Amino acid sequence: MCGIVGVIGNNRAKDILLTGLEKLEYRGYDSAGIMVADDSQAYLVKTPGRVSELRALANDVPEGHIGIGHTRWATHGVPNTENAHPHQSTSGKFCLVHNGVIENYLDLKNDYLTDIALKGDTDSEIVVELVDYFYRQGKTPFEAFKAALDKVEGSYAIALMDVEDSNTLYLAKNKSPLLIGLGDDCHYVGSDAMAMINETNEFVEIKDGERIILTPSELTIFDRESNKLTRESFVADIDATDTEKGLYPHYMLKEIDEQPSVMRKLISEYLTEDGLSTIDENIISHMASSDRIYIVGCGTSWHAGLVGKKIIEELTNIPVEVHLASEMGYDMPILSEKPFFIFLTQSGETADSRQVLVKVNELNLPSLTITNVKGSTLSREATYTLLLHAGPEIAVASTKAYTSQIAVMAYLAQSIGLKKGLEKASSIDLAHEMAIIASIMDSMISEKELIADLSESFLGTTRNAFFIGRGLDYAVSMEAALKLKEISYIQAEGFAAGELKHGTIALIEEGTPVISIITDEKTASHTRGNAKEVESRGANVLTISLENVAQEGDQLVLLPVHELLTPLVSVVPLQLLAYYASLQRGLDVDKPRNLAKSVTVE
Ligand code: AGP
Repeated sequence: MCGIVGVIGNNRAKDILLTGLEKLEYRGYDSAGIMVADDSQAYLVKTPGRVSELRALANDVPEGHIGIGHTRWATHGVPNTENAHPHQSTSGKFCLVHNGVIENYLDLKNDYLTDIALKGDTDSEIVVELVDYFYRQGKTPFEAFKAALDKVEGSYAIALMDVEDSNTLYLAKNKSPLLIGLGDDCHYVGSDAMAMINETNEFVEIKDGERIILTPSELTIFDRESNKLTRESFVADIDATDTEKGLYPHYMLKEIDEQPSVMRKLISEYLTEDGLSTIDENIISHMASSDRIYIVGCGTSWHAGLVGKKIIEELTNIPVEVHLASEMGYDMPILSEKPFFIFLTQSGETADSRQVLVKVNELNLPSLTITNVKGSTLSREATYTLLLHAGPEIAVASTKAYTSQIAVMAYLAQSIGLKKGLEKASSIDLAHEMAIIASIMDSMISEKELIADLSESFLGTTRNAFFIGRGLDYAVSMEAALKLKEISYIQAEGFAAGELKHGTIALIEEGTPVISIITDEKTASHTRGNAKEVESRGANVLTISLENVAQEGDQLVLLPVHELLTPLVSVVPLQLLAYYASLQRGLDVDKPRNLAKSVTVE
């Protein structure tokens, strides 16, 4: 899941490429590179490390008026200069950037390239050499590009330059995201709109199997059979400032702090002044008539799904299953008579989730994507879409997307429950509850220093930690553990409090940090009992509780909220705990090692 950019017909090519790559760095940041050209020469610059290092390295390179660029999340070959993109063919004629995975690259190498001394270990380099191979067979550059693509299996978004022609870019897409930006007598290319938002907000979507010839003034789209296609452009409702950090030291802290305003925005997005649902009636009646709901997601989105299950079942009486997309993709369960699928995905581009959606579409089953990115692949390909309205989420560790996914599922569940005439659904005043939650979030965020101290004193230099809870608190404990793991590299587990004594308690030793989350009256005393069990084996227990179940000694007591919505408040101090643990270890909070924001490879 890399980020690719391109530009043609603009005399600030180098700067536009580097700025675009900086905006795409959340997609992968272990190495980067650009090729820019003017009418006389082409310049290839690439390096392991960040785009900032590339910008320094390319300082003396002319701006040029055409170019391609790439920021990488390694799938094949370690992050080094040889494996960094762009890849230039041995003859020097072609240069390429690629996002995705070429599954049959070894076969292609053995079938066509045995005489080529490859520079690196990547699957991507095979493609540029294959284009060169077909060019040497007498094909035109575009014919050679198509011939190579016809041999390739896997996922790809590709931008190809012919070094001897500074007036054309060749593009292709299959599964990985790719957008064209429209400019005055120039065009831009990017893995998403954010890469080009400083230059344009008008884009053309490229679909799977399409091949493109791009010149400064012309965009020509062909389908796999080389039929010419036309396509309307769309305007993205984001602007450049949305992606700025402003005065914040990190995007993650900015995005944690944005949660109260996102909660307030969602009230007006999902409820009318009179408290009526604004959700498309088709979605509500389609879901109300389903006999089982399947929530599909990965990582934090899957964790939000675990909370959504409880809310939807409680307010609609429809049974809900929550599935890891990477598992469901290869192991579809026995489905009910009238299934309905919900895809939870911040980015809308996660390959594991999309792979399931492709199967759901093949089965002609209804689906709803709840996403933060309008026009994203999983939004376009689902039957319905609901948006998170959370604003761009740049930090790799997802925060405001998690809370907004839960809030949107609450609005959805209430609408379905009301449609089914269920008393429980009419008993909850969501506008009121969400307003309370927003102000509780505000108060917690204003006391973030307290969490910084707790992180210091409690997590210290630990190498492992446990989060325990029951019911919704168990779901939150898994999200809290993921946040801590992702950005502080502390080995952490979220655990069903009652399950510890069945084995994992063996890991508890003197000083092991255990965070117990207690928000539910029904289970509070039982979780406290489990906390006592680990404490008596030397664990350091930190308790986060809601006021209505709080006890003397609890380190963090939160004001009470509706029992179905407690994760919206209990998760915030846990997001901050992870943030400060990362900060106190001097780590890169926004771009943790080995990760990327949008996982576009399986
Ligand atoms: C969460 O902090 C991670 N970035 C990751 O687990 C993420 O939630 C997962 O990759 C799913 O992404 P999506 O919501 O964009 O589909």
